[in-house]
Amino acid sequence: MPITRDAIVQWIQAYAAVLAEQKDFLTQLDMAIGDGDHGENMNRGFQAVLLKLPGGADKDIGTLLKTVAMTLISTVGGASGPLYGTLFLQMAAYASGKQELTPAELAEALKAGIDGVIARGKAAAGDKTMVDALQPALEALQQALGQGAGLTDALNRAAMAADQGRQATIPWVARKGRASYLGERSAGHADPGATSAHLLIQCAARTLV
Ligand SMILES: Nc1ncnc2c1ncn2[C@@H]1O[C@H](COP(=O)(O)OP(=O)(O)O)[C@@H](O)[C@H]1O
Ligand SMILES: [Mg+2]
Repeated sequence: MPITRDAIVQWIQAYAAVLAEQKDFLTQLDMAIGDGDHGENMNRGFQAVLLKLPGGADKDIGTLLKTVAMTLISTVGGASGPLYGTLFLQMAAYASGKQELTPAELAEALKAGIDGVIARGKAAAGDKTMVDALQPALEALQQALGQGAGLTDALNRAAMAADQGRQATIPWVARKGRASYLGERSAGHADPGATSAHLLIQCAARTLV
């Protein structure tokens, strides 16, 4: 079963709802090692995205994801705005003109997005950023699909890997972004962006099935 444009809309809507719910939690994480605005930033961005979505009923997945990207870039600010914007913009470029995606194409789109985040933010694995949740999620998705797993199973495995990646950031010292200014004091807290990235993949596992 291919992934339809409607399913992608549901993914984005589910993520917006989860961000509204988890805003304070994400902000607390960012208070510990940043400036306490990650929940606010992400919620503001995705509430703006929600207002833009209904207009795109007849558009392809690429156009839809590009709208998400441009809205995030113009409303989120901080480090996460341009980075999540890039994630969606590169996914949009991959999905340009497509009305649906196969599971393998979803993995390719996600790979394009994550490569974009890495190119833009220059974070490597272990730097304690969103990449530490996104990259393991992609690898788990690719591996599961390669083993013949169905989409639901593959996305569940990706979400679990993202959660493990998020948890792994707890003891680490941040090497990118605002948290890196804290040096050793950034250890002992989960990275906010890795946490919001886990939520994004978790929403995909709930909706893209
Ligand atoms: N260079 C980077 N590459 C990847 N992710 C980054 C980078 N810099 C910061 N981040 C992510 O952004 C999150 C912080 O987002 P946010 O609080 O919204 O922005 P800001 O740090 O500008 O206040 C971090 O937890 C981290 O996951
Ligand atoms: Mg912040």
